Amino acid sequence: MFDIIKQIVEKCRLAIEEATDTSILADIKVRFLGKNGEYTGILRGMKNLSPEERPSFGKFVNEGRAFIEQKIAEKEAQLKAEEQRKKLESETIDVTLDDDSAIGSIHPLTLVKDEIVNIFLGLGFEVKEGPEIETDMFNFQLLNVPKDHPARDMQDTFYLTDNILLRTHTSPMQARVMTTEKPPIRIICPGKVYRSDDDATHSPIFNQVEGLVIDKGVSLSHLKGCLDMFAKAMFGKETKTRFRPSYFPFTEPSVEVDVSCSMCGGKGCKLCKGTGWIEVLGAGVVNPDVLTNCGIDPEEYSGFAFGFGVDRMAMIKYGIPHIRLMYENDVRVLKQYK
Ligand code: DAH
Repeated sequence: MFDIIKQIVEKCRLAIEEATDTSILADIKVRFLGKNGEYTGILRGMKNLSPEERPSFGKFVNEGRAFIEQKIAEKEAQLKAEEQRKKLESETIDVTLDDDSAIGSIHPLTLVKDEIVNIFLGLGFEVKEGPEIETDMFNFQLLNVPKDHPARDMQDTFYLTDNILLRTHTSPMQARVMTTEKPPIRIICPGKVYRSDDDATHSPIFNQVEGLVIDKGVSLSHLKGCLDMFAKAMFGKETKTRFRPSYFPFTEPSVEVDVSCSMCGGKGCKLCKGTGWIEVLGAGVVNPDVLTNCGIDPEEYSGFAFGFGVDRMAMIKYGIPHIRLMYENDVRVLKQYK
């Protein structure tokens, strides 16, 4: 009997020694010490022993059991430590690993917007931003575009309700500032605008910058000087500007401004469609009716305003052929414009 116990203890010790992970060890524990385990089975043999033999046998069995339990505990501690070490090893992050694919670059639209803003900050303008969801009043009516005015056809509007819409231009910021601040006013307003329009040069969402100057004695000459300086700062010192008569409801007179093509220097190329000129913005002297609408006396004050597309400037500056490239955000495209 005692020999059988010794054999089982030895078998168990070997099994414990060879166990390679904690789940194997748990199985061994059940196999030997569990309710129906091999070692537990020995106790059933006790009933065949004489009452005198039982105490020494019981003691021997208990010692064997304690030995196995201790071996299991030791092995368990060792295996757990090993498993922990392996886990830590496999989860380490190599902070020295060189992976430049994760480094982003500034979006071309942001680059161009920042450049535009910086030029105007240098000319003493202040930056104002406003809501993209706008009222019909600010987007159209205060700017001299009443309901049913044909000029509304110039801008395909996304209406949210009869009187609330996605702003079609940044010009409502003119009205927002004029109705709340006193002249002198000298602001630029960058921001997103929306129109139901979609082709190679138009996107339903795009970016504009609005400019407004209101003071005493402001004229078209100031507008021309200001925009000519801007064009030279933006597209290079050699850049020339050309002002053509145009129509906007909020300015009178209105102009469209072209810059000499920066690609061919004005000789004519694909970018300027052979004309040597590229149209970049709309502008004009603020219509006295707009001043009156916004609570500014046109007898005392006058001003000029302008508005242009940031996307268009980016396309011209970087030779980007399709406006959608700037909204698809393919990093292979974006990272070219660092
Ligand atoms: N809001 C015009 C547009 O989106 C651009 C514009 C033209 C703005 C003339 C002006 C301006 O402030 O005076 O087409």
